[in-house]
Amino acid sequence: MPIKASTGAAYARVEGIGAAIPSRVVDNHEMTQFIETSDEWIQQRTGIVERRWAAEDETVESLSLEAARNALAHAGVEASDIDAVIVSTVSHLIQTPSLAAIVAAKLGTDGAAAFDIAAACAGFSYGLAQADSLVRSGAARRVLVIGAETLSRITDTSDRATAFLFADGAGAAVVGPSDVPSMGPVVWGSDGDQAHVINMNRTWPEAVESGLPSQLTMQGQAVFRWATGFIADAARRTLDAAGLAPEELDLFVPHQANNRITDSMLRHLKLPDTVTVGRTIRHFGNNSAASIPIALDAMIASGEAKSGDTCLIIGFGAGLVYAGQVITIP
Ligand SMILES: CC(C)(COP(=O)(O)OP(=O)(O)OC[C@H]1O[C@@H](n2cnc3c(N)ncnc32)[C@H](O)[C@@H]1OP(=O)(O)O)[C@@H](O)C(=O)NCCC(=O)NCCS
Repeated sequence: MPIKASTGAAYARVEGIGAAIPSRVVDNHEMTQFIETSDEWIQQRTGIVERRWAAEDETVESLSLEAARNALAHAGVEASDIDAVIVSTVSHLIQTPSLAAIVAAKLGTDGAAAFDIAAACAGFSYGLAQADSLVRSGAARRVLVIGAETLSRITDTSDRATAFLFADGAGAAVVGPSDVPSMGPVVWGSDGDQAHVINMNRTWPEAVESGLPSQLTMQGQAVFRWATGFIADAARRTLDAAGLAPEELDLFVPHQANNRITDSMLRHLKLPDTVTVGRTIRHFGNNSAASIPIALDAMIASGEAKSGDTCLIIGFGAGLVYAGQVITIP
């Protein structure tokens, strides 16, 4: 007997977006208590005015739950409608069980499939790519994708190379079936030859042995070169893959890594002035997998992003890894 295979929806779409913003505001003046720096230098090099760090009672789990509930409400679906939960994070500091399994239970899904992915700042787009495939294959009808980070807990706050950049937060999207194309092909990849460019500086056993924490390190200039060259081109390939010209876009929301990287991408993509560009890094800092959905949520709330708008997103970061797609704003 032939095996019965699954078939899914014709297309997938983002049905709702939500976010959770940590309560602690750390402005550039406060940053000068941790490192030798200045408000002027940080703003000029990154665009960041202030960032959010999790308060003591806020965790990557609590932020994930809040963002997920907001996304479900925006989509108008119940937790029990969710068949799979994907959490992208590099700062859930217990390796197993997955954060996704805990979130799936606490949200009240009906035993949804659940797993975490580690794709750093590309994590939201990696999650969306998987959700798109799951919905179209029939493996799931509705998928919840969450990007959540508490990077402040794995950042050396005395490190001049990283302390001012990294931040916390969570963003989420509900992905469900669609009769019309609402998500372009993912353009993604990795370059593990540059694994050393952003990484954790110690394994757990090394941390125990040395008595020193395992924390993020970054070679900023190497990241900058890669992002403004290869990734800017990947953004253009993502637009091409969706069959769109720059003037057909309404929004461009790249990973909120650094405003100078965003500026360089804009020049490369030759986007017209009519395209609205995500720049939420100004108030939220670089919160890795959470940065794109947080930006989308803020832009929907402010009216900059409207339902039906066409939006190019691209994430990139430690691995090195990257992923981008064009989506329709719910
Ligand atoms: C991190 C980054 C802002 C640092 O800027 P940079 O120009 O490369 O910094 P450099 O280390 O070359 O230092 C340049 C100068 O700034 C100074 N500087 C370095 N860190 C500083 C800080 N935190 N505050 C103030 N000054 C600083 C240096 O001392 C140096 O001064 P000098 O010219 O008098 O010697 C930049 O490399 C960058 O944006 N990289 C991309 C990072 C990124 O997007 N990561 C996210 C990926 S997900």
